[in-house]
Amino acid sequence: MTDDHGPILESRRIDWADEADCEAFARALAAQSAISEAFIELHGPLGAGKTTLVRHLLRALGVSGRIKSPSYTVMEPHALADGSEAAHFDFYRFNDPREWLDAGFREIFASKGLKIAEWADKAAGLLPVADLRIEIELVDEHRRQVRILALTERGRDLLA
Ligand SMILES: Nc1ncnc2c1ncn2[C@@H]1O[C@H](COP(=O)(O)OP(=O)(O)O)[C@@H](O)[C@H]1O
Ligand SMILES: [Mg+2]
Repeated sequence: MTDDHGPILESRRIDWADEADCEAFARALAAQSAISEAFIELHGPLGAGKTTLVRHLLRALGVSGRIKSPSYTVMEPHALADGSEAAHFDFYRFNDPREWLDAGFREIFASKGLKIAEWADKAAGLLPVADLRIEIELVDEHRRQVRILALTERGRDLLA
């Protein structure tokens, strides 16, 4: 896990005893008005729970039906209950920066709407500063240690 993010405005450590705690955290985030325009980076190894957190967050924001992981498509769009858009990225297989423009990712980051990125390190240099950086560490099968960094004022609002 790289540490090359910008200044930390605020940070917090929490513990998820199980996935229900992950879901409760997602619901709390979804309840913040700042969520609809936020950019959130999720860090942590395979199986940490990044996609699981995104699924709980999108559910809490009113997405129904199957929520596909973007691991093969790099990005999956979602329509939220309030009419806004969400883009869920997984840059694990992202190798060619030209794809950034071709796929229209620049437009997505230039417009409103929630953006969430797994494996943001693979698109370093292309992404704006995240509002929240969430680092998930595996402790055992169900327990996770989570560090949450607010890197912008909006991120601070999200942590409130
Ligand atoms: N506390 C927890 N928080 C999130 N996921 C958990 C937790 N405990 C167990 N899990 C499980 O861990 C797995 C995480 O997988 P996934 O979300 O795909 O990871 P990643 O996207 O980080 O590779 C899921 O099967 C999920 O049910
Ligand atoms: Mg994932």
